[in-house]
Amino acid sequence: TSSDHFVIAIDGPAAAGKGTLSRRIAETYGFHHLDTGLTYRATAKALLDAGLPLDDELTAEKMAREVELAGLDRDILSKHEIGEAASKIAVMPSVRRALVEAQRRFSERTPGTVLDGRDIGTVVCPQAPVKLYVTASAEVRARRRFDEIKAKGIAADFAAIFEDVKRRDERDMGRADSPLKPAEDAHLLDTSEMSIEAAFQAAKSVIDAALNRN
Ligand code: DC
Repeated sequence: TSSDHFVIAIDGPAAAGKGTLSRRIAETYGFHHLDTGLTYRATAKALLDAGLPLDDELTAEKMAREVELAGLDRDILSKHEIGEAASKIAVMPSVRRALVEAQRRFSERTPGTVLDGRDIGTVVCPQAPVKLYVTASAEVRARRRFDEIKAKGIAADFAAIFEDVKRRDERDMGRADSPLKPAEDAHLLDTSEMSIEAAFQAAKSVIDAALNRN
């Protein structure tokens, strides 16, 4: 199908390297990039900042409808508490519906977009011509996060980070609405024993093949 926007859907668990890969792909092809996790994080932060409860779906949906995609700042939203709160409100169907609407509108930007998250290939953009499912073992992902924190000169506890990664996986894969799973037509990219460069090259050959078909 030829259309004026080309969508690349990238899904996978926390700390699999989706973010780095997505930014690099967007830069390479001149596409717009949306880290959809930030939309859940921004909603959670707005609730926390306003002192509102995290378990009231109607209030959370209202906040979700007010999230501005233009103002999302990874640095402000990266805090651990915000990630925890985000994964709690991400189980609420009406919150997901509100954010998915905004994400779909974003995906229509020309000449193309890269969206990364948990349900892009399965729910947000099921018609995307390219779907990648980026993963790595929980241990490797915990190790990467541990190294990242240590590199910033902050004390880190590997066992605690490992437990955290596993708990986040359970919540993301176990929820009833839009659980994390590969789309049937997704290309699996297990980066456990791959460099960022190798992962990028693998993704690039899948994308180039699809662009040539388009
Ligand atoms: O990728 P992240 O850590 O920024 O995501 C934060 C939370 O948001 C995560 O626990 C799962 C949820 N999320 C989701 O449910 N669907 C998405 N498309 C993206 C993130």
